[in-house]
Amino acid sequence: MKALDALHSRISVARLSSPLPDAAVLENIYRSAFRAADHGLLQPWRFLIIKHAALEKLGELFVKAALSDDSEIAPEKLESIRRKPLRAPLILVTISSLKEHPKVPAYEQELSAAAATQNMLVAAHAQGVGAMWRTGSMAYHPQVMAGLGLAKHEKIIAFLYLGTIDGPVRTLAEPQLHKFFTEW
Ligand SMILES: Cc1cc2nc3c(=O)[nH]c(=O)nc-3n(C[C@H](O)[C@H](O)[C@H](O)COP(=O)(O)O)c2cc1C
Repeated sequence: MKALDALHSRISVARLSSPLPDAAVLENIYRSAFRAADHGLLQPWRFLIIKHAALEKLGELFVKAALSDDSEIAPEKLESIRRKPLRAPLILVTISSLKEHPKVPAYEQELSAAAATQNMLVAAHAQGVGAMWRTGSMAYHPQVMAGLGLAKHEKIIAFLYLGTIDGPVRTLAEPQLHKFFTEW
């Protein structure tokens, strides 16, 4: 797919199934992260690859975190939390990993990690791979952050769900450019 076509047509896909994208397709996705705008070229990010049994392990971590908030949580709710990571065969966790820099504040470094995530969304779409950026309360939960091995200077920017598109994809509305682009 041409770059502009990919940028103009990217869409999130919530229903994702196996198989995983193959290694060459994944490498294209990973490489695209490194072309995010990055003030000071700090590469203020790292990514965890979660697949196979690790998806279930992540579900258990979510359950542990939810139980620490509410030990009487309803079993159905807990089961739904446990199953969240199973919505795709692969999750990439984007972690912003701040670097000390006199001119580049933390906020800008987090924006770069977000831009890296967006690049990966577009690279996935361009290759016909379904993808969806998710966060939710688990992304900000201290037990989840600790369980995934985050250090003090790190945050979860995204759980990027990736997989084979399963089912119809919604159609896109034409953007109303004139409402959002105005002359000053
Ligand atoms: C930082 C961030 C976090 C998000 N977290 C969630 C989420 O937890 N659950 C969800 O359904 N959508 C979430 N979204 C939105 C979807 O990824 C998606 O962008 C949205 O459903 C619109 O679909 P589109 O990307 O096809 O336009 C998040 C988006 C961003 C940028």
